[in-house]
Amino acid sequence: MREWAEPEHVGRRREPVGTLRRAVPDDGATCLDLDGDWEFQLRPHPEAAELPAWRTAQVPGCWTTEPSLWGEVADPPWYTNDRMPWPDLPPTPPTAHNPTGVHRRDVTVPADWSGRRVLLHVGAAESLLLVRVDGQPVGSSTDSHLAAEFDITPWAPPGSTVRVELTVVKWSAATFVEDQDQWWHGGITRSVRLFTRPVLHLSDVRTVADAGGRLSVDVRVGCDAGEGAQRGYLPAGWRVDVRLGRTALAFDAEAHARDLADERLSLYRGRVRFGGWFPGIATWTAETPVLHDVTVDLRDADGALVDSQVQRVGFRTVEVVGPDLLVNGRRIFVRGVNRHDRDPLTGRVVTTEQVRQELLTFKRFGFNAVRTSHYPNDPSFYDLTDELGFYVVDEANIESHAWAHELCDDPAYLPAFTQRVARMVRRDRNHPSVIIWSLGNESDYGANHDAVAAWVRRDDPTRPVQYEGAIKDDWNSGFAASDIVCPMYASLDQVVEHVTRNPPIRPVIQCEYSHAMGNSNGSLSDYWAAIESLPGLQGGFIWEFADHGLLQRTADGLPAGRAGTGRFTDGVPDEGFRWAHGGDFGDTPHDGAFCLDGVVLPDGTPKPVMFEHRELASPVRLSFTDGVLRVRNAYDFSGWGHLRGRWVLEASDGTSCSVPARLPDLGPGCTATVEVPAELAEAGAGERWLQLVVTQAEGTAWNPAGAEVSRPCVRLPDRARDEGTGGEPGGEPGAEFPVVLTGDGALDLPGLVRPELTLWRDPTDNDDIAGDADRWVAAGLRDAHPVVVRVEGSTVVSVLGTSAGQVRHTQRFRRDARGLHCEETVELPEGLDDLPRIGVRVPLTATAVNATWFGTGPWETYPDRCTAPVGWHDLPVRALAVPYVRPQENGARTRVRELRVRTSEGESRFSFDRPVTVTVHEDAVVLDVRHRGLGTASCGPNALPQHRTGAGTHTWSWSLAPGVRVS
Ligand code: GAL
Ligand code: MG
Repeated sequence: MREWAEPEHVGRRREPVGTLRRAVPDDGATCLDLDGDWEFQLRPHPEAAELPAWRTAQVPGCWTTEPSLWGEVADPPWYTNDRMPWPDLPPTPPTAHNPTGVHRRDVTVPADWSGRRVLLHVGAAESLLLVRVDGQPVGSSTDSHLAAEFDITPWAPPGSTVRVELTVVKWSAATFVEDQDQWWHGGITRSVRLFTRPVLHLSDVRTVADAGGRLSVDVRVGCDAGEGAQRGYLPAGWRVDVRLGRTALAFDAEAHARDLADERLSLYRGRVRFGGWFPGIATWTAETPVLHDVTVDLRDADGALVDSQVQRVGFRTVEVVGPDLLVNGRRIFVRGVNRHDRDPLTGRVVTTEQVRQELLTFKRFGFNAVRTSHYPNDPSFYDLTDELGFYVVDEANIESHAWAHELCDDPAYLPAFTQRVARMVRRDRNHPSVIIWSLGNESDYGANHDAVAAWVRRDDPTRPVQYEGAIKDDWNSGFAASDIVCPMYASLDQVVEHVTRNPPIRPVIQCEYSHAMGNSNGSLSDYWAAIESLPGLQGGFIWEFADHGLLQRTADGLPAGRAGTGRFTDGVPDEGFRWAHGGDFGDTPHDGAFCLDGVVLPDGTPKPVMFEHRELASPVRLSFTDGVLRVRNAYDFSGWGHLRGRWVLEASDGTSCSVPARLPDLGPGCTATVEVPAELAEAGAGERWLQLVVTQAEGTAWNPAGAEVSRPCVRLPDRARDEGTGGEPGGEPGAEFPVVLTGDGALDLPGLVRPELTLWRDPTDNDDIAGDADRWVAAGLRDAHPVVVRVEGSTVVSVLGTSAGQVRHTQRFRRDARGLHCEETVELPEGLDDLPRIGVRVPLTATAVNATWFGTGPWETYPDRCTAPVGWHDLPVRALAVPYVRPQENGARTRVRELRVRTSEGESRFSFDRPVTVTVHEDAVVLDVRHRGLGTASCGPNALPQHRTGAGTHTWSWSLAPGVRVS
């Protein structure tokens, strides 16, 4: 049998999936942990003969990231986005080269399991698993992201020592429905265990707990022996007891009576339902993740405990009512992110601790929702999302991207569709954090989708279902398979128009938006302004959490694998290593850097967009309109009891003062007027900004007490500066001194090199992919150098040649007791618009070591990603840059009014007549009157019109304080 070539083959002899987890390491009483060293060989294809050499592989592990396992077959990671990595047509995988990893190990089954069944649990294997015991075929499984369990007792009775052989075939018919945008790997990616259970045992427990306090618990009892007792009944005298905490639940006699007449019961030993009503019980939300234990006991006729299982429940209700997704009857905002199980060293293998750290990061940066793109995540993930509080869209492992149109209607693949969705639902249904089932990703829309949607709606009527493919062509269709309008990368205009043109009929929650490739995520704030103000819009999931770079040794180009542990710091690989993307391992065809599109770098270091998101998600909002300062509680369910605040006023004249804030006792969604603290109301001069630094009053799992939660900020009315307070132009000019320019326009001032016009930035991934970079190169911006055409008194005129004509740049210098002043005028020719930047580059003759500025910060900001407090910030120059994996424009700070750059030779103090964008490098400072937004055009909308730099004439001026030198 060639299971790998048969689409109908989803698995053989797999145990039914339920919510109970028995393969959990204990002292060996019921579970034997088989993780660790296995004998291993990588064969060229599943029918190849045994090779002479056996190596040692660590389970769980991907062989693709561990070159020591390859032998004669080399199989490095391979990255493709939507295409299949090889040309073969579905359902046939490649025959000659189909890396097949054989893992084997001798196992002694505990003798004291005698009289019971022996089960093998394989947490996940990619993509087809074949199980043999002592050479005998025992079972098989597909779905690389769900566990398979097999009863192996006939081959491995208690007390026996047997050879367990797990063969993983990398390419199979199932690979065509696992065409997600990620690295292709091979291996056993989650734990392997043996376990046993009582002959008569609890086989499944299904809980439904709603926000009104109603709890029902369906318990199934299974019997491994099978003989003897009447089908569908517990043996005489046996009992199931269910408790919530200490309170016993009532046996639901009515349901039982119904079930007795029900034929389906014959499949099981027995099924019983319990119920209880707990009005007023603490409910579960992502903000208040209260869990309660439900204990289920199975007792024999003597009352002895035979089996016992604890399930955690959260009382909560999820519904879609008209255009609203409601949790516990309340409309929520979905501040989501897409998450993969991935790791820069091990590929697809993650530890519980790692998952936990990721979720803590989500919390710290204001995310409250996760889509498990694009497959069920590691089981530990759901325990943690229950505990920490997240709304989860649980997605089935189905993506037939390259053959989307064909497979979604192909009945041969229907078993794969149903098994993948149904087994996910059966596994994860008791998790309160799971609020929506997703039928998969990018597999077009076909009969197979409607079939599985119907299955889910019947099996779990308590949750909505979503599927992007169902609505992709028409947001008012696809009702059978999607209760949510869940598009990807829809523009702001599109979503706004959808909910404003006609009354929305389903909630709009983008399953993917704001593509985080490189320096990106422009206009997140524009999306959120719309989401928080328009009925029908409820949020979305940023694409995606992490860059998928894999650590690679530069000397031999091989993946570093586990040996690369610790060989990187703050997002940057050590000398001798780099972050690899598609093509770096010789993988062809490949999709290059398109897998580097996360809000964190490959090692989890947050990119600046994380701080942007933190501010946009801030539970405390601040506004100042018509002289009135208001605070708003942006939580959906919570008060502010756990938060503290401190007012900070910072002004462009250098003022920085702060007083403790008393946060009013505001309910969720409520607004209150507050006074600007008297001590701050009149403080400072120039531009004045009031920040509310919000911190954690008490520690949480993700933040210690005192940790900063967010820093909302508003501008207060300017106050005139006292005379002589700074280097800003506009005060008393004092006596003027001539500025001497040499014939070629150089400034005759010690150490100061005349700044020159620049219109270029190193293209971001968005600039490249959208074609903007090509347009700018074609316009001549990259290679153009300004040429001085006239020097007259203290005025220099230079021109920059572009394909659209000459750009004229005029600089008028002036010098007085307060410093050097320069008025810049840039005249762009007709047709030269939408440029990366309009600015001047100030060369430094000594290395810049530190920057202090009054503007947005401290993190990197761009004109369409600048939700950051305005005030005084100070950072070493090397901390200003961001190590995006593919080098590109980075390190800017927007709306800057004052800038001090310290070099080994002194400090340069710049002031600007209007807010500018500055970028401080070690050898130069770039001062932009306009800088283009970032947009998200690597996948989705480009920078919005208001964030683009227009044609025409641009003027601005800057001053440099005296007594200091630019070098
Ligand atoms: C979506 C897809 C994701 C990823 C993303 C681009 O179309 O669902 O898996 O490919 O685009 O990075
Ligand atoms: Mg895809």
